[in-house]
Amino acid sequence: MWTVIVWPLLCLASAVFADDVFKKNIKERNYLLQKELNMMLGNDIVLSDSEDQANKIIMKLKNNELDYGFNNPQYFNYSKHFFEYKDDIKKSELFKLIKDMPKGAVLHAHDTGILSPDYVLSLTYWDDLFVCFEEENIHFLFSLELPKLPCKTAWQLMKHARYSSGNVKKFDAELRKHFTLVTKDPNQVYTDINVVWSKFQQYFITTSSLFSYKPIWEKYFYDTLKALRDDNVMYLEIRSVLPTLYDLDGNKYDAIDTAASYKKVLDTFLEVYPDFYGAKLIYAPLRFVDNKTVKEYLKIAKELKNKFPDLLAGFDLVGQEDLGVPTKEFLQVLSEASDEFEYFFHAGETNWYGTSSDENIVDAIVLKARRIGHAFAIVKHPLLMEEAKERDIAIEVNVVSNTVLKLVEDIRNHPLAVFLSKNLPVVISSDDPGLWEADPLSHDYYITFVGVASRHADIKLLKKLALNSLYYSTFPHKDKLIHEFEIRWTKFIDTIVQDHW
Ligand SMILES: *[C@@H]1O[C@H](CO)[C@@H](O)[C@H](O)[C@H]1NC(C)=O
Ligand SMILES: *[C@@H]1O[C@H](CO)[C@@H](O)[C@H](O)[C@H]1NC(C)=O
Ligand SMILES: [Zn+2]
Repeated sequence: MWTVIVWPLLCLASAVFADDVFKKNIKERNYLLQKELNMMLGNDIVLSDSEDQANKIIMKLKNNELDYGFNNPQYFNYSKHFFEYKDDIKKSELFKLIKDMPKGAVLHAHDTGILSPDYVLSLTYWDDLFVCFEEENIHFLFSLELPKLPCKTAWQLMKHARYSSGNVKKFDAELRKHFTLVTKDPNQVYTDINVVWSKFQQYFITTSSLFSYKPIWEKYFYDTLKALRDDNVMYLEIRSVLPTLYDLDGNKYDAIDTAASYKKVLDTFLEVYPDFYGAKLIYAPLRFVDNKTVKEYLKIAKELKNKFPDLLAGFDLVGQEDLGVPTKEFLQVLSEASDEFEYFFHAGETNWYGTSSDENIVDAIVLKARRIGHAFAIVKHPLLMEEAKERDIAIEVNVVSNTVLKLVEDIRNHPLAVFLSKNLPVVISSDDPGLWEADPLSHDYYITFVGVASRHADIKLLKKLALNSLYYSTFPHKDKLIHEFEIRWTKFIDTIVQDHW
């Protein structure tokens, strides 16, 4: 009897109670999600009404692409190798918008790795080029007479080699393979990081005497600036080993002359295209050396600083970190010079944890690097991530490079996702886009936005990344640069809204 009365009451009470818990959990869920979203890079950007409209358009495009992949993972291309989907990207409406978007600056790129293999191939049509075909490798040299440099077969004029081949199209297709990493079956060809790095470094060796012919060197840089401008980039900080240049008269030009070449080309370019905001140089010679050589590098850097104070941004060391000399080995020499130069070290471009290449990150931080190249491994170092944020050291992330050079297979697993979610100071760049046949910057932005960042990350992230690239640059009049960027950005937003309404 008793239970007959009490039981329904109890049920009612527990239902009310369960309902309360449910409501509380919903509230908490929304609170936690929102709180975390507010921590994300770009959260501080406040959108205008037209930005808000443009955002809706962009997010519709992004979420269409993502949701299709979420429901049909077999067709989700960013989980595959970049070479398998890079041409499909060009069909994406969102990619076209990102191409048109003003993207600020490129802050991490290597000077002879930016333009496409087709461009490099076109340089082999220049007069006075000699070629030596060996079993695996090719050597080039511009010369008025038969080169005396060693060649296991025989030097011949490129023009003769090409036309006597009987099939110019096939000849050029074979030649072009030396100027790109792209292949149809990347997963079979590039079986580990050393295989792909070896091909990568071979490109720079093969092309070095092609590019270091002074007229080509200057043309390549001019056309690089043009390609960046065409990709809606307004400013560049370029890394260079500053090789010795040569000409047909037998003259040689040292690192200082090579920098002077850059200065001359830049000035000419800025006269023709005053809407470009310029370029600076990060002197970045090879890291496979001893203390004495680093001291010599620093001497050159000092001379560069004296001769071209407006051109030199600072100093870096380059080469595959897992195989190169760790930064720690040069700590003394680099510490002694740290008041004189801004440092922009490559560090932690590795999958190893607790190794010398991984620990290059801590050296970059103690050496007060202004920015760190890649810092791919920093995600495993909670303290160093905090320090980077605290000291406002920007991390230069190059997502496409990291997939091609085999640090990450499925781009959704790139640590950049963590950097963005923790609001670390990130800039997006492209490293050596010519070698993977990507645009100077657009592919990296697009992949970051669609393949790496949260589904919720919106136009605020895109704008913040572009602003960061200006903010973390060494451009002296940043207010002017950012003001000009805002003007271009507003135009871009208005165009999206007009075109899609
Ligand atoms: C993904 O790749 C396949 C094969 O290349 C292509 O047909 C498809 O259009 C791509 N999907 C998207 C969304 O780009
Ligand atoms: C450079 O000198 C330091 C001592 O200052 C030494 O520990 C280090 O091994 C040297 N580096 C190389 C690459 O020889
Ligand atoms: Zn690099």
